[in-house]
Amino acid sequence: MEELIEIVEGRVRLLVYNPDRFKRSDGVYEPAWAPVFYNPQMTISRDYSVLNLATLNLSGAVVVDALAGSGIRALRYCTEVVGVESCLANDLDTRAYNLIRRNVELNKLSEKVKAFNEDANVLLYRLKLLGERLDFIDIDPYGSPSPFTRSATWAVARGGYVGLTATDLAALSGSKPWAGSRRYWASLAVTDVPRVVALRVLLGYAARVAAELDRYVEPLSYLLGRHFVRIMYRVRKGASAADAMLARDVGYLRYCEHCGFRDYVGEFESPTCPNCGGRVRHIGPLWIGSTVYGEIVAKARELLLRDYTYLQTREELLRVLELQVAEAEIHPQVPYDVVHLSSWLKVSTPKVSRVVDCLRSLGYGSVRYYGVPTAICTNAPYRDVVNCIKSPR
Ligand SMILES: C[S@@+](CC[C@H](N)C(=O)[O-])C[C@H]1O[C@@H](n2cnc3c(N)ncnc32)[C@H](O)[C@@H]1O
Ligand SMILES: [Zn+2]
Repeated sequence: MEELIEIVEGRVRLLVYNPDRFKRSDGVYEPAWAPVFYNPQMTISRDYSVLNLATLNLSGAVVVDALAGSGIRALRYCTEVVGVESCLANDLDTRAYNLIRRNVELNKLSEKVKAFNEDANVLLYRLKLLGERLDFIDIDPYGSPSPFTRSATWAVARGGYVGLTATDLAALSGSKPWAGSRRYWASLAVTDVPRVVALRVLLGYAARVAAELDRYVEPLSYLLGRHFVRIMYRVRKGASAADAMLARDVGYLRYCEHCGFRDYVGEFESPTCPNCGGRVRHIGPLWIGSTVYGEIVAKARELLLRDYTYLQTREELLRVLELQVAEAEIHPQVPYDVVHLSSWLKVSTPKVSRVVDCLRSLGYGSVRYYGVPTAICTNAPYRDVVNCIKSPR
């Protein structure tokens, strides 16, 4: 049985360890069991990242794939995104480093993609010290990106971009609140919208790390997967703008476990639920501003239809982007789960699309979340969401 097999993802050829060699006797296979990690189920995250990078109109850009595994992200950015001039593909594991070098050769990219075999933090701080201009830094680790968020924020060029992937959803979404508090400095609890909370906790953390360094962030886009959250944001410099960001965009989700009431607040407010008088939780700090930048997601959609029709996950991404273009118009973006709210209200669950239509007919913004079939995002106050769930018309 071959040790390595060749596959194609996007516009690149890639050697990866043959999964058949690492399957358990019952046929089960986890990408982490191979000597170098490659997970085909994350193609959607890489396709989305390629597309988002393409929206930025880069020119002569330098990209760092700081935890590169097989090197797939770096190879794809350098091949598929106009304006990316060179990519640094780094992995601490020597087997990964050797595979990156072979994949660079296979794609005849040795002029554009350079392989490194260092700790990601050491590499990023060193490149910063050397005065290298790094336009986009991609952090795609196992589990939490928190050990690499500060170095990426510090090393990225002024006005440059950072992408973070997190797969530790239990920590980010409140089902392991102590892990969440340790890694993201947030007080968390289980809610009916765990993946949206995970997204906002990660963005809130990125924002606070940036603020500590007199920088601020502008979220551009995100992707919610079953097992991961991916965010991409711009990092700018400015202490007073960082103060303004913290005041405007970082706060808490006030959440009542008794009746499902929720809203975003900047500071701790009354612990009494305005709806049922029960005790509310303040979940956060988390990002309470917009999670998508309208022009970026609209451009990504346009590029997907025009130049990136070859992407394997095109259909899914089209649906994601259509929803996100609508989401960008909604402020604030408060998440609800229609099934949970119906059970709190002791009514039968209406069709999610009818609740969205009902809220729109009342003049509010409302849209579904891709990949979270029962969740909606709306700027309607709780009482109107309740009315639309009880009688969606
Ligand atoms: C999730 S995998 C990367 C997957 C890859 N980006 C992809 O899209 O297929 C995480 C990688 O980080 C590497 N890694 C772990 N700790 C590291 C560190 N401190 N510095 C650099 N690489 C590290 C691991 O060897 C592993 O290859
Ligand atoms: Zn309540």
